[in-house]
Amino acid sequence: MADFKPLLSSRYDLEDSHTLAVAEKAGAYKVARKALMTMKPEQIREEVKKASLRGRGGAGFPAGVKWGFLNPQAGEDVYLVINGDESEPGTFKDRTIMNGDPHRLIEGMIITCWAIGAHTAYIYVRGELSHSIAYLDQALEEARAKGYVGDRPFGKPFPIHIYTHSGAGAYICGEETALLNSLEGRRGEPRLKPPFPAIKGAFDQPTIVNNVETIASVPDIVEMGGEAWCNLSRLAPRDGGQRLYGISGHVKKPGVYEAPVGITMRELIYEYGGGMLHDDRPLKGVIPGGSSTPVLRPDLTIDAKDEEHPLHAWHGQSEIDVPMGVDTYRAMGTMLGTCCAIVMDSSVNMVEVARNLMRFYRHESCGQCTPCREGGAWLVDVLTEICAGRGKVEDVHRIVDISNNMMGNTICAFGEGTAMPMLGLVQKYREEFVEAAEKGVPLDVRHDASTLELVRPGGRAA
Ligand SMILES: Cc1cc2nc3c(=O)[nH]c(=O)nc-3n(C[C@H](O)[C@H](O)[C@H](O)COP(=O)(O)O)c2cc1C
Repeated sequence: MADFKPLLSSRYDLEDSHTLAVAEKAGAYKVARKALMTMKPEQIREEVKKASLRGRGGAGFPAGVKWGFLNPQAGEDVYLVINGDESEPGTFKDRTIMNGDPHRLIEGMIITCWAIGAHTAYIYVRGELSHSIAYLDQALEEARAKGYVGDRPFGKPFPIHIYTHSGAGAYICGEETALLNSLEGRRGEPRLKPPFPAIKGAFDQPTIVNNVETIASVPDIVEMGGEAWCNLSRLAPRDGGQRLYGISGHVKKPGVYEAPVGITMRELIYEYGGGMLHDDRPLKGVIPGGSSTPVLRPDLTIDAKDEEHPLHAWHGQSEIDVPMGVDTYRAMGTMLGTCCAIVMDSSVNMVEVARNLMRFYRHESCGQCTPCREGGAWLVDVLTEICAGRGKVEDVHRIVDISNNMMGNTICAFGEGTAMPMLGLVQKYREEFVEAAEKGVPLDVRHDASTLELVRPGGRAA
């Protein structure tokens, strides 16, 4: 297991770690005080750039670069919005920060507000995470009472006001522009981009939207210096620092673990996750970073003979031996996403996995874009027919066709988030889909007792 000092999770095990008294005794707010009293905003922005802090919400965009897109015009107010929606299936890391160390997030927000010139910040939290909202509200009350958040944080005449905002349980509200609409009291539908939020975001003002973990990393970056923090990663300098890894499914020790960026999936499963749950059921596949990311298959090897190939160093090795990074996983044709893996053993039927996932996406599509609204429902119908033994081999091609038609044809990335994992499953486990199309999926490997009804009874994808 990697030898490292926990940062993000260092206070989790302290009793009452969510309270200001405990967090502050263990170092909270020391960096915010220093940053506001002694550092210029541009110095902080420079450190975050040097840190190569890749966004922890899924897309992996460098936070320092995003902050650099701000260009507020006279009369405009800059906003900071924290994305605590965390609704991606398989993802449960941000809530450990919000529940276990809310003051780390608030400290990161204070520093970020100062760095980007924002006087108002929101934490948008998924409605079901009522505990997280309660912990954050309590922590904010304490921080206000101490004068760390308010008109003069740490005595500095730079007002910083922070509010929580509860979502109502729609997955699409994690998409940053749908989130902004929801925050403003509108219907949670994504906006067309451009303009990007940094130009026109909350209330039509320049806005930075960042994930909970991204901003919770800022105090350590400022304390250590961007370069030193970046070098904690095995993939420095492009993908810096440490991060939270989630792991669930068929492992002995599911949970959230902090580790340097760039550990391998094999380490995550067999060391952090304690290995496969049943010794007689080997690993069949792993969805690496929340359900929207294409599956990895341990018996597939990297084909990167060409020395110029970004994965050349791992040529011939298993997909689960490539270091987990934003760029390495993209080069492998998948995504690191939220870095929360779903581990599946040999008992799992991948057609059923696909049907389960597609039912989720079909239910959560906001319905604005036809390819996503209709494509998701068609995929569920075709997969249902296959599982019920009413399928044909052509249906496997139909799945690929429908998915390809969703890619790049929607306002937001939800379309790709549905199509990519579908294509990954059908490409990597094609033989299983063909077999199911011929014979159906036996009842004993179906993931639940759900009926095999069509979304639109009597209808099939054309
Ligand atoms: C359908 C959908 C759901 C998303 N859900 C979340 C989420 O729950 N949390 C999150 O931080 N980002 C989510 N994102 C990504 C956000 O749009 C955005 O990229 C992110 O909040 C930016 O923060 P970061 O740069 O710090 O990662 C989602 C994106 C899509 C397309």
